[in-house]
Amino acid sequence: MIHDAASVMQACDRLAAISARSDGIERVYLSDEHARCHALVAPWFEAAGLTTWQDAAGNLCGRMEGASDGLPAVMLGSHLDTVPCAGRYDGILGVMIALAVVARFKAARHTLPFALEVVGFGDEEGVRFGSTLLGSQAIAGGWNARWWGLEDAEGITLAEAFTSFGLVPERIAEASRRPDALVAYLEAHIEQGPYLEAQTRPLGVVTAIAGARRFDVECAGHAGHAGTTPMTMRKDALCAVSEAVLAIENAARKHSCVATVGKLDTVAGAVNVVPGLVRFSVDIRAQDDTLRDQAWAEITAAFESIGTARRVAFSNRETHCAAAVGCAPGLQNAIARGISSVTGEKEPLRLVSGAGHDAMAMANLTDVGMLFLRCAGGISHHPDESVLEEDVALGIDAMVATVSALAETDSV
Ligand code: GLV
Ligand code: MN
Ligand code: MN
Repeated sequence: MIHDAASVMQACDRLAAISARSDGIERVYLSDEHARCHALVAPWFEAAGLTTWQDAAGNLCGRMEGASDGLPAVMLGSHLDTVPCAGRYDGILGVMIALAVVARFKAARHTLPFALEVVGFGDEEGVRFGSTLLGSQAIAGGWNARWWGLEDAEGITLAEAFTSFGLVPERIAEASRRPDALVAYLEAHIEQGPYLEAQTRPLGVVTAIAGARRFDVECAGHAGHAGTTPMTMRKDALCAVSEAVLAIENAARKHSCVATVGKLDTVAGAVNVVPGLVRFSVDIRAQDDTLRDQAWAEITAAFESIGTARRVAFSNRETHCAAAVGCAPGLQNAIARGISSVTGEKEPLRLVSGAGHDAMAMANLTDVGMLFLRCAGGISHHPDESVLEEDVALGIDAMVATVSALAETDSV
């Protein structure tokens, strides 16, 4: 049973082991690894005292009633999916901490004025179908019917993947929750950045989550013979994209954003062919949506001018757009008090999350609050992700204190 930091760490290790491939941990939405994960984790939900089910979107959910049946719930959670070649804590740690928190209240026979729910969201990373936060969007009522046609790398549509996973696309609305069914959503997550470690603080309070936009971009030039096409006559899509990638970096710096070209594919590329078609991704984020949109406008203007100069054509399709989200001030304060009560700090560090989180989608449904845990070197989306067991112990205690504070005050 997951009830303390040691059992949380062991659970993260076991989950990593069941999704390990030769090139690292990978568990994407509605995959075999996702199904194996639910088979392993659902009994842990039950052992923590939760009535457990898989919802219509493939999220793993559990509920423990409060003082009386049917009360609105404080929902705790994070995601169970991973990026390719992942670490073992991004998302997963938050779900396991949530279970430890519930187990603590169960063991104390503490009667809360709200129910406690835990969710392990099926898709936060958006790796398989390009569109992100699918699990939490389903719960928050933000499902978009256009997503059914999204395809994975094998050409399997989201609708087909639902059916193979035993889900029924027509029933997706059953996953959505009503705002009055929830008191708040609280998420514990590794920081995935360097600030807590730099300040030798184990825990922090998230004030806001940066907004993000993602695009699939295509650059069409003309393929040609690498030996016979003179340099002056080429329409080399990869050379054009190389300039574009640097223009993206410059625009991000100028507008205080972060922007990343994380995928780039020379379509039908060969050693002796001038690249005729290149596809790449752009992920751009900022605390301020206006700055982010200004940067994107500058990037598309650069696509135009590079395209004209090099006689190639850029086109793009937006795959994700999420506004920056503020964490509820009352929940920030409750989490800060929870942290103070376990670390003794007068003023816990407050910080903005550059990474996206399920809390972004959940903010459309209820107030959200997030607790960050220090991770070594700020490393994440990498097998070297690591956390200290003593920080996890503090994280569990701080979350228990936060939930207790919510039970005692009307700060939400
Ligand atoms: C999720 O980890 C993201 O921020 O991309
Ligand atoms: Mn992630
Ligand atoms: Mn995450």
